[in-house]
Order: sequence, then structure tokens, then C-alpha cells
Amino acid sequence: MKRIKIFDTTLRDGEQSPGCSMNLSEKIDMARQLERLGVDIIEAGFAIASPMDFKSVQAISAAVSKCTVASLARCTKGDIDAAWDAVKEAKHPRIHVFLATSDIHMEYKLKMTREEVLQRITDMVGYAKSFCQDIEFSAEDASRSDPPFLAKCYANAVAAGATTLNVPDTVGYSTPQEMMDLISYLRENVPGIENTDISVHCHDDLGLAVANSLACVQAGATQVECTVNGIGERAGNASLEEIVMGIHTRRDFYQAETGVNTKQIYRSSKLLSSITGVAIAPSKAIVGANAFAHESGIHQHGVIANAQTYEIMNSTDVGVPQNTMVLGKHSGKHALREKLESMGYELSDQDLEGIFNRFKVLADKKKTITGSDLEALVFHRHNNTRRACELVSHVINAGDGVPNISFIKLRRGEEEIEEVALGGGPLDASFKAINRMVNMDIRLESFSLNAVTDGEDAIGEAVVKLEAPDGETYTGTGLSTDIIESSIRAYVNGINKMIEAQS
Ligand code: KIV
Ligand code: ZN
Repeated sequence: MKRIKIFDTTLRDGEQSPGCSMNLSEKIDMARQLERLGVDIIEAGFAIASPMDFKSVQAISAAVSKCTVASLARCTKGDIDAAWDAVKEAKHPRIHVFLATSDIHMEYKLKMTREEVLQRITDMVGYAKSFCQDIEFSAEDASRSDPPFLAKCYANAVAAGATTLNVPDTVGYSTPQEMMDLISYLRENVPGIENTDISVHCHDDLGLAVANSLACVQAGATQVECTVNGIGERAGNASLEEIVMGIHTRRDFYQAETGVNTKQIYRSSKLLSSITGVAIAPSKAIVGANAFAHESGIHQHGVIANAQTYEIMNSTDVGVPQNTMVLGKHSGKHALREKLESMGYELSDQDLEGIFNRFKVLADKKKTITGSDLEALVFHRHNNTRRACELVSHVINAGDGVPNISFIKLRRGEEEIEEVALGGGPLDASFKAINRMVNMDIRLESFSLNAVTDGEDAIGEAVVKLEAPDGETYTGTGLSTDIIESSIRAYVNGINKMIEAQS
């Protein structure tokens, strides 16, 4: 069996897609989860892009120890210096340098000749190597580059010390056969390539990112770059869960395996979705709500007779929690900790305290507390810690033909403040009241509400995207069995992120 390395770029290529930005503590949480998931490399960010990016690459380098931590850098000394400064304290640091090699990129974007590009690769891979042993070189837009020229670029990178050669299908243009041919061509025409990892990085513009990546594995690639839930530029990157389960389920065909603990897949997907507020489509392979559901009678009949008639994977293989009743309103903190530990969550005393308080409130409202309920509380644990603003109470008067009035009481620092507002509906009134209290001109960009657990007393998760006066967007999430309360909590959560970013 070949061992395929999983290079996760959720926190770099994924995070740079619209609506997916994360703050520092969210990135650290996600990085820790990626480590539990068992990815080999975490691309933590693009250190030169902003002071915040630099800080998060540095913090992730300190937070994880099993995975390699990479920072992206263009082929310039400034980028490479920043990348190295950010990852140098990591147990396993990597610098990932890239330069475009297709004619169209070289002519219109870089304004460089082929000779200049070749020289720059030699110089900058060599410069990166002077700091770090583990160097990845990516030829941006490789799949649209002239293959003989591309081979020379990779040859220069190997000669200058690159240990991984990444082949991106940057614009998602290639077909599986073309990607396979390209990998085979490079294996035959790049001197020294046999001593490096061959990596592939595919975008999903034509819906082929996963197929293209797996075709490269067949052709000899030893590393696949991907993101959780397939988030990323435009149509996204190759989805990690599909790559991993594709290789795992068809290991007979690929003769390969990854180091990923597949039972952590569902949790990683849910965590990302609850951090970014970007919902997972119900029909999404592996992690969608319907991925393991059988609706038609014929299928149900077959599955009852023998699960393998229609099931090629089991939901427990990817860690979908079983929705049986797990705890009740009389369960204590000890039982809660034990249950969470059995589900794989090891929490600090402070986190457990916050979750226990929310659990008690929830257990008063819901008849049964299931694994999914507990998971929702864990994912939203940041809403339990002390933030700039906290919702204390709310009273709503709403209906058709009557004024929609909202009374909101918030704790801001040590003081309690309250406000009443009229609005077009109960949420409009509530958000107006909050805006007045925080004295900020905030625009609600989008709002969505989803049931995150099952049943008539399901928990509703509200997600708001808020635009701050400076044009920056912040995502807020809130959880409650009462959908108005979850919406208000989401709004307050978004405002807290805004306040924290500005302080
Ligand atoms: O899509 C791409 O080409 C990239 C590179 C920087 C690896 O993200
Ligand atoms: Zn990319």
C-alpha cells in the first residue's frame, strides 16, 4: 500500500474564499481538529498577506505538534522571510513557495520571461532552503503550462532543494486523463523527482477536483492538497473528505492509504461549518445530511435485508453521532464529561463549565439530549465564555397587524444596558435595539437558520453575516431551541467578533 500524504489548505486556500474568514481562536480550534483528524500537513496561512495572517500561522505553529505546518510565500525574499518567521517555532516547519509557469500568467500577471522565471525559482527555492529543510514548490497554473518548460521549472526547484513538487490545476480546467498524463510526463522528465513528494492541488471549477486528484494518485502522486468541505476560491478546492474516503473505500483499486482517522471527518466538517456559518449541502458526499439516508422503499428494503446492497460506507466510519438519547436533565457534570470524552471531546474545565450550564438550560427545554445536541453545544462553546457583550434577556411582542417591539438587555463589560425598538418584524426590532446599544451602524448582509438536531424540539442554529462600518464582514452564530433567541445570540456573537477585531 502506498502512503498518500494529506495536505490540508482549509486555513489558507479555503479561508480566502468569500464568507469563510475565521478569527485567530477559530483558526487555532480548526488546526487542533485537523491534527486530531490526522492530516500530515496544515497550510496555516499566507504569512505576508496581513499581520493577522502572520499571527495565525505563528499561533498554529505553536498549537500543533504532530502535523507539519506550512506557510505560503511568493518567490520573493520578503514573502519567504515572513513565512519562515511565522513557522520557525513549529515542530515540523515547511515553506511553500509558488510561481506561475503558464504563458498567460507569465506574460500578463508576472511580466516575466521564461528565463527569468527559471532563474527566480532557482534563487528563491535556494533562499527558502537556507532557512528550512522542508520546501514545497508549486508551479501555479501548472496544468496550462507548456510541459517541457514546466519540467525545467521543477528540475530547477529540485536542484535548489525542493522536497515536494506541487502540480496545481489552479483554474480547474484539466480532465482526469490530462492530469494523469501530466504526472506521468513529469515523473519521466524531471531529474531527481523520484526523491521528492509529488503533490497535486486541484480546483473544482468544472466539478472535477476530486476526480483529477485521484487520477494523479493513480499516476504516482504521493501528496494531495485539499480542504474540509471543499471550501476554496470560486467553486472550491478538492474536498478532503471525498479524497480520503475515496482512497479508503477503494483501497483495493488505488492500493493506497492515508493517515487520516476517518472517524474524525464528520466532526471536522461540522466544526468548520459552525465556525464559518457556511452550510453543508444536504446531498454533499460523505458529510451531507442525506449522505447516508435511504428514502426510497426499494433501497430501504435492500438495506434492511443486507446493508451492503446500497451502502458502500457506514456513517459511523466517518463519525456521524448516533442520535439516541444520551443524557437527561438529571445528569450531572461528571456524566456530561464522561459522555463527551466517550465521543472524543477532551475539554478544559472552563469549557466544560460553560457547556454544562448550556446543557442544563437545554435539558429543561428538550425531552431528550442526543449526541448531536451535545456536539452543537461543544461547537458553540465560544459563546459561553465572557465576551464584550452578552445577552441577558429579551422580550418580544410580535404578530400580524400589531407593532413588532423588542426589548433587549445586554451585559457590556460590568454594566447592564437595555433598549426597546420597533421594527418590521421581531428580528428587525431586536437588531435595531442592539445597534443602538452598541452605537454602531451595522448592516445585516445575510441571515440563515437551520435545525442542527432532529425532532420537533430541535436546536436551531442562526447564522448572520454582519457588515461593520469599515466594510469588513463578520459571521455570528447562535444556538437555541427558540429561533428568535438563536438569532439574537448570533447577532451579538457577530458584534463581539467585530469589537474584538477592532480592539
Ligand atoms: O491554486 C493554486 O495554484 C494555489 C497555489 C498557490 C498552490 O493555490
Ligand atoms: Zn489553490
